[in-house]
Amino acid sequence: MSTILVTGGAGYIGSHTVLQLLENGDQVVVLDNLCNSSFESLKRVSELTGKEVTFVEGDIQDSSTLDDLFSHHKIDSVIHFAGLKAVGESVEKPLLYYRNNVYGTLVLCEAMAKHNVKNIVFSSSATVYGDPTTLPLHENLPTGQPTNPYGQSKLMVELVLRDLYQSDNSWNIAILRYFNPAGAHPSGRIGEDPNGIPNNLMPFITQVATGKREALSVFGDDYDTHDGTGVRDYIHVEDLANGHLKALEKLSEGVGLVTYNLGTGQGYSVLDMVREFEKQSGQAIPYNIVPRRSGDIAACYADPKLAKEELDWTAQKGLAEMCRDSWHWQSNNPNGFK
Ligand code: NAD
Ligand code: WQD
Repeated sequence: MSTILVTGGAGYIGSHTVLQLLENGDQVVVLDNLCNSSFESLKRVSELTGKEVTFVEGDIQDSSTLDDLFSHHKIDSVIHFAGLKAVGESVEKPLLYYRNNVYGTLVLCEAMAKHNVKNIVFSSSATVYGDPTTLPLHENLPTGQPTNPYGQSKLMVELVLRDLYQSDNSWNIAILRYFNPAGAHPSGRIGEDPNGIPNNLMPFITQVATGKREALSVFGDDYDTHDGTGVRDYIHVEDLANGHLKALEKLSEGVGLVTYNLGTGQGYSVLDMVREFEKQSGQAIPYNIVPRRSGDIAACYADPKLAKEELDWTAQKGLAEMCRDSWHWQSNNPNGFK
């Protein structure tokens, strides 16, 4: 049994991961400033597991909060989810994104070093590959040029972590590059709860299904893909969460710095998603084709072999479960956690 600090643990991927850590018998301390989440998610995680989570409301940029936290809890490893993730907002407010995501991670790593906690799993993103010139995306490919400050902030943190490891190889660091998370816990009690108009495809579709939005805007049907709409590697959030438990096991072997894609290896188009969602939910999803969204790429999917070989991890759930569980969550909680 270990004690894991989960930054951003009240959020979408964090709450699903906290649930699995508790089920695994780990102790969990969550640090979250609730800027994009609600404490209700953690209450429900406790209800679902029958186990307690220690919650600290605070910011990763605040070194005194971190000092206190590491002094009061004997932390073995950190899973670092805390970050801002809205691509469009990052273009409007680059300084906010670099401060929160890059500076925040520096403060966290400094506190970890000070308290001799040197195991970290970091939430990176497939966005670090930039606009792919070859598919599927393998971890050995050079990172590309992310098209927005959010993506740049993820790439910058990857570089910081590499330099940190170079300087002190007693660190164990797992960089996990997520593809497109979707789905929710099958109980329908926790799930994705975006503020305002969703940027991502699945939450937009579910809000059309509940009648909160009139129609989906499909951003372009003239890409070089099987039906002209954008292709992505959607991965069930429970599979993604499980990847973090596998990464922690790997770190405990003293591996140094490792980087893994967490994706299924399958690409689906926007219209594939719409059709599968309609099938699973029984709801019609009206849509309009509109011009491409700036910064979007045609297609992106993972080569997931390395995580299979080294972590013994493969995604177990497919599009049907992602659509069914997202709908179950959204239809039971039309206003999210509010
Ligand atoms: P989320 O917004 O639901 O969760 C992030 C959590 O971090 C929130 O609870 C938020 O309140 C908290 N937070 C943000 N800044 C903080 C700070 N300075 N101090 C303390 N807490 C802070 O997002 P998510 O989808 O669960 O994403 C988790 C991580 O995974 C993020 O780093 C995100 O960039 C990364 N990621 C997400 C996706 C995706 O599509 N969801 C894809 C790739 C990578
Ligand atoms: C998926 C597909 C859109 C909304 C972004 C970030 C990435 C990662 C995940 C995380 C694309 C199309 C979408 C809509 C649409 N971020 N779409 N209508 O763009 O692959 O990745 O989220 O933290 O860094 O860039 O995901 O869900 O926004 O879009 O047609 O209303 O759906 O064009 O083809 P994306 P997405």
